Amino acid sequence: MEVPLSKPWITDLERKTILASLNTPNLTDGPKLRKFESIVAKKTKSHHALGVSNGTSALHLSLVGLGIGHNDEVITPDMTFIATVNAVILSGATPVLADIDESLNISAESIGKKITRKTKAIIPVHFAGLACNMNKIMSIAKKNKLHVIEDSAHAFGAYYKKKHVGTFGDAGCFSFYPTKNITTIEGGMIITDSQKLAARVMTLRNHGLNRNLIQRNKTTKPWDYDTIEPGYNYRLDEVRSALGLAQLSRLDEISSKRIQAAKYYNSKLNGIKGIEIVNYEKVKEHVYHLYIIRIKEDFGVSRNKVHQMLFKKGIRTTVHYKPIHMFSNFKKNGLKDSDFPVSVKMYNECLTLPLFPTITRKQQDFVVNNIRKLSSGNIS
Ligand SMILES: Cc1ncc(COP(=O)(O)O)c(C=O)c1O
Repeated sequence: MEVPLSKPWITDLERKTILASLNTPNLTDGPKLRKFESIVAKKTKSHHALGVSNGTSALHLSLVGLGIGHNDEVITPDMTFIATVNAVILSGATPVLADIDESLNISAESIGKKITRKTKAIIPVHFAGLACNMNKIMSIAKKNKLHVIEDSAHAFGAYYKKKHVGTFGDAGCFSFYPTKNITTIEGGMIITDSQKLAARVMTLRNHGLNRNLIQRNKTTKPWDYDTIEPGYNYRLDEVRSALGLAQLSRLDEISSKRIQAAKYYNSKLNGIKGIEIVNYEKVKEHVYHLYIIRIKEDFGVSRNKVHQMLFKKGIRTTVHYKPIHMFSNFKKNGLKDSDFPVSVKMYNECLTLPLFPTITRKQQDFVVNNIRKLSSGNIS
């Protein structure tokens, strides 16, 4: 049996919606995007939602939009996808890595230790679909007058104390990459309550122009736009927005299937010697972009070996992620494993199991049974 790690769920109706959206006159930055943005704003209770080309451009534009750049430092977790950190570098600022705790989210204590006179912002990542401790992070940010940009790429639909992730800091950034909880294939969105930031993002995502094409076409001089700073082409097109709208209308169904699958794994894996389920006790708050277990020493088979043996059976697993400080681009800064003890420990022990809305019980049983077999020493 083949069990992929992840599988996008696009319905026949969504395929038709995509085709129909090809008839939209401008094909980009148009009415479907406006509708997608307004529904995301409503769902997250944000004043503004701005669609962009992907989650990385959402982070980049939030940083640039807040005026963060050269000579500034931005604190990010060591355990995240490289995009979080690349966005900081692309803005001209310097990323400063903080350790995580065993929930896989950034450690508030570690953030405190990394603040210097140059620190301008913190980017917490709501890892795997579980919100960070935003009370602690916002209180550190307030005390030190820091911006907060929430990397919510993993966590569309997740809440912290009944407030949607992305609404605590200055901006929240979503990714709609195919593995994410809802997808536009490529795509992203920024949410913010700041009119000033929203206006700047709107300009910056469209080459720095003060008016988009639809606004210009309503005037007698569509060529007469102005620009006061260079911008990017980070627009989201109408086809992707149409898919996003359709996916959004199924968010509850998609999330609930992910959560049900995670609960099923929990019920089957809990109690296997040497297996620890990450955030087992947080099941009610989690939207399970990823389902992660730890393979401890007393399991008797190493994490890498478990990955290999499952691979041989047709089961795809992986590790989220190799810590940032281990990449060549960061090693040169003299960062050591001992600076990030929890990140390194989790990197060595964690394994992400297949999880997607349409995973079947049969597939999950196959995964669990194969893990059980390994634990009883039968690794042929
Ligand atoms: C934590 C995190 N941040 C940012 C991103 C970037 O999103 P995108 O791939 O849409 O640019 C990702 C994407 O996978 C991610 O996992």
